[in-house]
Amino acid sequence: PLIALRPLLDHAAEHDYGVPAFNVNNMEQIQAILQAAQACDAPVILQASAGARKYAGEPFLRKLVEAAVEQYPATPICLHQDHGASPAVCVQAIRSGFTSVMMDGSLREDQKTPASYDYNVEVTRRVVEIARAVGVSVEGELGCLGSLETGTAGEEDGVGAEGTLDHAQLLTDPEQAADFVARTGVDALAIAIGTSHGAYKFTRQPTGDILAIDRIAAIHAKIPNTHLVMHGSSSVPQEWLAIIRQHGGAIRETYGVPVEEIVRGIRHGVRKINIDTDIRLAMTGAMRKVMAEKPEEFDPRAFLKAATAAARDICRDRFEAFGCAGQA
Ligand code: G3H
Ligand code: 13P
Ligand code: NA
Ligand code: ZN
Repeated sequence: PLIALRPLLDHAAEHDYGVPAFNVNNMEQIQAILQAAQACDAPVILQASAGARKYAGEPFLRKLVEAAVEQYPATPICLHQDHGASPAVCVQAIRSGFTSVMMDGSLREDQKTPASYDYNVEVTRRVVEIARAVGVSVEGELGCLGSLETGTAGEEDGVGAEGTLDHAQLLTDPEQAADFVARTGVDALAIAIGTSHGAYKFTRQPTGDILAIDRIAAIHAKIPNTHLVMHGSSSVPQEWLAIIRQHGGAIRETYGVPVEEIVRGIRHGVRKINIDTDIRLAMTGAMRKVMAEKPEEFDPRAFLKAATAAARDICRDRFEAFGCAGQA
């Protein structure tokens, strides 16, 4: 069944686990995630960006998730709008049947320019008022995602602020988080702790100076009843990078968020963990491998089957590591 984010994360908080939120754009990704969720007896968050709705088309995305709900009746599924750029985008998601929306007011509507605190409070508060009336949950964001190494949101084709960000913008302030939650009433809050979107997060294995896991506890202490969300949480598996490179891909040296650091974050109060890039890497690696090893193959299902299996295995690993397995 479809469920809202709030009850799902309330259960996660009560039982000390985290729920991965996987980005979806097409049938294969949705099938991979649901296969893993069913196998692990885990609840799941499917999240779609505005870009996903544009890629698949709103009716296709809506119907694909409807099909998942029908085919997996025992799995609790939350359908979440990722990075809603405006109240209008959030309302469109609600009309489309989403049970949860993210109003990302940390950036202006272009999702490139850091917004003022007052703007963020105002747009987020408006979305909470609308969503609450129809039982839909709301995630807000305070602080800007970005690298503490470079002071930027990350690689060019990633999603995030343009230009440079100062240290204060890159780390969510616990006091301000308390004020933000009091003024908006969000169910969940995305925090900035040095992660960024995409494959190029860190130039080396992250340590505490560039991945501020310890800040999570300080924020959680101020807002114990608001569920914390970690964006940019792909681990960027070196095994998949190697497979992609072995088969003609060009991905530079890069490091993601180690799974054990996310697990530490969950112990400090993180309940929702956003993952897109890891599924992209696994699917791309698997497809490149089949194409290289079976040059005579021309049925796209052969590539997509391998991609689906690779994505499923990533999802299963995350459900297990985050303590989400067995919680459906
Ligand atoms: O927020 C970033 C997610 O990875 C979604 O990316 O806008 O390319 O769908 P996208
Ligand atoms: P990754 O790029 O690390 O997978 O992050 C995805 C994300 O935060 C979507 O909102
Ligand atoms: Na989100
Ligand atoms: Zn994100």
